[in-house]
Parts: sequence; C-alpha cells; structure tokens
Amino acid sequence: MRLNLFTMNAVEHVSMGSWRYPGDQSARYTDRTYWEEVARTAERGGFDAVFFADVRGIYDVYGGSRETAIEKAVQTPSNDPTYLIPAMASVTNHLGFAVTRSTSYNHPYQLAREFSTLDHLTDGRVAFNVVTSYLESAAANLGVEERLDHDARYDRAQEFMDVCYALWEDSWDEGSVVRDRDAGVYTRPEGVHDVDHEGEFFSVRGPHGCEPSPQRTPVVYQAGSSDRGREFAARNAEAVFVSLPTERGVRDYVEDMRSRAADHGRDPDSLAFFPGVVPVVGETEALAEAKYESYREAIDVEGVLAVLSGFMDLDLSTLDPDERVEHIETEAIQGAVDAFTTSDPDRDWTVREVAQFAGLGTTSPVVVGTPEAVADELERWFTDVGVDGFNVKEVTRPDSLRDFVDLVVPELRERGLVRDRYGDGTLRERTLGYGPRLPADHPGRSDD
Ligand SMILES: Cc1cc2nc3c(=O)[nH]c(=O)nc-3n(C[C@H](O)[C@H](O)[C@H](O)COP(=O)(O)O)c2cc1C
Repeated sequence: MRLNLFTMNAVEHVSMGSWRYPGDQSARYTDRTYWEEVARTAERGGFDAVFFADVRGIYDVYGGSRETAIEKAVQTPSNDPTYLIPAMASVTNHLGFAVTRSTSYNHPYQLAREFSTLDHLTDGRVAFNVVTSYLESAAANLGVEERLDHDARYDRAQEFMDVCYALWEDSWDEGSVVRDRDAGVYTRPEGVHDVDHEGEFFSVRGPHGCEPSPQRTPVVYQAGSSDRGREFAARNAEAVFVSLPTERGVRDYVEDMRSRAADHGRDPDSLAFFPGVVPVVGETEALAEAKYESYREAIDVEGVLAVLSGFMDLDLSTLDPDERVEHIETEAIQGAVDAFTTSDPDRDWTVREVAQFAGLGTTSPVVVGTPEAVADELERWFTDVGVDGFNVKEVTRPDSLRDFVDLVVPELRERGLVRDRYGDGTLRERTLGYGPRLPADHPGRSDD
C-alpha cells in the first residue's frame, strides 16, 4: 500500500477552519523547520511522498468577492511549494515529493529545467502533478486576459507535456556525458539534440539545458476527472489522484481509467490510483468519535463554501442550502461538480450536505475509528476496490499526520501492507515498481 501526504504550503488547504483548532500549527507553514518535521514524520511512516497542491489565484467566486477567502485563509496566503523540496529532501533519504504545477501558466522549457534540477538534487525523488488550473483569478495574475476554456487548457497541457518529454527523454542521449578529463570532453556534442518544437502554443528549439537526471521525466501524476481530463490522464499519467466522496464513484473511475489507458496502448495495470482519504483516528472508538465531533465543530462553513465555489466556478452563496446540487458543465474542476452529482448515481446531495461533508477534506471520504478500524477500511479499499494507495488528507496539522503515522501505520505494517524499510532507487522504482525511467509503453518515452 502506497501512501502520500496531501498538503499545501498554505494555512488552510482542504479542512477549512482547522487553523483555529487547539494545538494546530498550520500558521507555521512559512517556517522551514515545520516542513522538515513533516518530512521526517512522513518518512518514519514509510510514506512514498509528500504531495503538494498549489494554486496561483484567490478564491473569489463565493459571494463574488475574495473577502471570505482572505479572512478565513482559504488557500491564501500560500507560498510556492517547489522551494520546500530541497529543505525537506536534505533531512530525508527516501521520501518523494510530488509538486503541483500548472501547464496553463508556465512555460515547458522553464518547468523542465526546474524539475530536472530537483530530480538531481533529490537523487530522483520528484513527481510532477500536472494540472491545468481552474481559477479565473489566476489568469488575471499571469497576464492572461481570460482563462483558456476547459478543453483548450487540456490541448495546451498535451503540447506542454510533449515538449517536456522531448527535453527530458530525447534531447540528451544516454552516455553522452563522458566527463573525460584527458580528452577535455565533458559531453559529446553529437549526443545532444535540438527538440525543434513548433506548435500551437509553444516554440522551443532546445536542446535541454540540463544533463539527464536519475528519472529524467519526474513521476507523472494527474487529477483531472472530466472526460477530457481522463483522456489526458490515460495518455500521460503514471499515477492518478482521485478525489470522490463514495466508493462507487472511485470504483467506476478506476475501471474507466484502466480501459482508457489500454486504448492508448498502455498496460492498464501500470496506472496507479491514489484516492484521497481523511483518516480520523483515536486509541479507542470513543476517542475517535470525540475527535471527529470536535473537528466537525471547528469547521468554518463559509470557508468551505468559498473553496468549493472556486473548485466549481459556481457561487454557492446564491443557492438555497436545501437545494439539490445539479450537474453543470463547469469551466473549473469538472471533477468537483461530478463528485456531488454524476459520480455516484445512488447518491443525491443538497448544498447543506455538501458543505457539511466537505468541511473535512473537501471531496474525499472521512474514515473514523480505532487504528484497527481505519486499517480495515484502507485494506478493504486496497484489496476490493483495487486502488494502489492513498493521498492522506489532513484535518489538523501536524496532528493528523502524526496520528496516522503513530497509530495506523504500525497496524498496516503488522498486516504487511506498508513497508518497514525503503528499497533502493528512485521514487518511480519505489512507488510504481518499475525502472527509474518512464516505462517503454508510455507515450512520452523515446525509442532509444
Ligand atoms: C483531486 C484534485 C486535486 C486537484 N488539485 C489541484 C491543485 O492543487 N492545483 C490546481 O491548480 N488544480 C488542481 N486540480 C485541478 C485539475 O487537476 C485540473 O487541472 C482542472 O481543474 C480540470 O479538471 P477536470 O478534468 O476535473 O475538469 C485538482 C483536481 C482534482 C480532482
């Protein structure tokens, strides 16, 4: 069973109001030592990676204003996660780092260089969570007059990835860096190639400026769940972060994605699935329930509505709380709308129910109980639903992670489900079980 910690370099991430909870340390997000502690704890728990969400705008859809987001620290203020990685890598040896970066507001040449640098500095422990972004406010920040429409963002994302693959995989031949002191040849020039990309969105001549890093292409994560998002994931993702509230939704999603991967000529079993989960654990059932109740009391409902309004690009302040959430086609995160509409035909949600559910972890299920009960539920998902692991979402920080590592991980280890010690190699080898490079059937892999 693979484990990632899902977090954000911000005060509030997915459990709005939790910064007020007694003992919560979310406000230490600006402190390097906080993140070093997180890294050490995650590695102690055998985690594969710390997975960082990131956005470049403000949640200003709710009530047509950014006021709630600012007041309640709804993913604002937030700092760039990329720069935490060298600090966290330097206090760990095996833990990986998945960083969310947007293909809508970056340039592939620059991003490829950043990831190659991180892959070198971490000895191959980085992953790229490819997102297309959803906040109109981000477009306004990045010199783009209007957010590209939903499907056009995915067209740009595919071209972006094709440029990155060319830079990472094809630009420098294996063995071209010879470091021959006697001959005075560091790199054989004939082994380094332009990529000569001329497309709709990008023009990149190349060659890549970095020599090949341990993984070359970082492990590719993706989380889109619209039809177009799934197609993109089926072609590009090695691991998928799925965040849906019910088991039925996750089951259908996994089945659909495996069949789409096969349509792209890939081994359907090579795609790894990480549903989000919000564990709330206590030494006894009563303690777990009491913790859950106190967490629920701390939920800031306005904050929840502000984040969801941003996810959905739908101002939830305009709806009656007892109104059923209707399916809409959104320009933002289609998957967040689907989560409470089409993903499970057996379940209807009112706005009030969505706000209550989403207070802890937004669109993922909460699992409350003793270490044994939580482990039972995760084991059931692992064996019956066929997922590969979990993106563990936090309520309070750092206690949610500590509780999980100190209480649930020993139980999972006892059952032989979570590693006692790490194997050698890169993040790709440890998490996905194949070599350090993209597998041969991945469309981004060169034919060398
Ligand atoms: C579980 C989940 C997590 C996501 N995390 C982020 C994120 O951290 N930053 C971001 O800009 N987009 C994030 N997204 C947005 C999507 O990855 C995607 O680029 C976009 O919103 C379109 O998604 P769709 O195909 O579901 O409509 C996330 C989406 C999901 C479903």
